[in-house]
Amino acid sequence: MSDSPDTDSPSADALARAAALVAEAAKVCVFSGAGMSAESGIPTFRDALTGLWENYDPTDLASPAGWRRDPDLVWGWYRDRAVRLREVAPNDGHLAIAELERLKRASTGRVSVVTQNVDDLHERAGSTVTAHLHGSLLGPRCEACAHRGEAKLSLAAERPRCPECGASLRPDIVWFGEMLPEREWHSASEAVAACDLLIVIGTSGVVRPAADLPLLAAESGTPIIEVNPEPSALTPLATVYVESTAAVALPAII
Ligand code: APR
Repeated sequence: MSDSPDTDSPSADALARAAALVAEAAKVCVFSGAGMSAESGIPTFRDALTGLWENYDPTDLASPAGWRRDPDLVWGWYRDRAVRLREVAPNDGHLAIAELERLKRASTGRVSVVTQNVDDLHERAGSTVTAHLHGSLLGPRCEACAHRGEAKLSLAAERPRCPECGASLRPDIVWFGEMLPEREWHSASEAVAACDLLIVIGTSGVVRPAADLPLLAAESGTPIIEVNPEPSALTPLATVYVESTAAVALPAII
């Protein structure tokens, strides 16, 4: 016997209750975090600080101060992540969410995906993403004039210059201490306010303001399904907590 949860076989009761909520809902909003992509082989932020990067502090790599201190170092870290992203594929959890979107559309419902992830695995699975709250690894932007560079520039070994103004391009990532892009936040809040079911997947729920979105749903009485192998800060808000991983639980629910 072991005390650890058997996340390969989530409770049949939780799966059945989650499936019933999904079947009833017309407007579903999915809110995903790093755990969504873990089974695709993308480490969560802190797990990523291994190997070459194990001696770095996250705030040296993901903050405006870190960028000012050593932009080449920061560029190199994000470039490594962009290169790695090309080597991985969406997992069964991403595919199940895309399938849910097709099913709901066929019955005049809809699915909105709001993600904190900077990868494009939801899109590659076939989902329409409403908001990338924390930016994207694909395509840098100018640190001075906000011009957006092509996705392939994120793979450049040398930090590229802006073709418009000559300043440095930077990763299009929302760093610690930076504001969320207004349009993405607006779209995300609207999708959460309009949905009749929120599915929260693979987020620790501690990074604000993104983590406020489930609170918004809970306050308006919207049911919440949480999929996470470990309880999170958001588990107390969940109507149904499915103690399992994204790639195992989502195909089973959907
Ligand atoms: N399936 C589902 N959930 C998983 C899985 C999995 N296979 N593996 C891990 N998890 C869960 C963990 O239990 C944890 O609760 O995913 C969560 C990951 O938490 P974080 O690493 O804190 O990721 P996230 O919540 O997305 O972080 C928010 O913080 O690092 C910054 O900007 C970055 O967008 C990120 C933000």
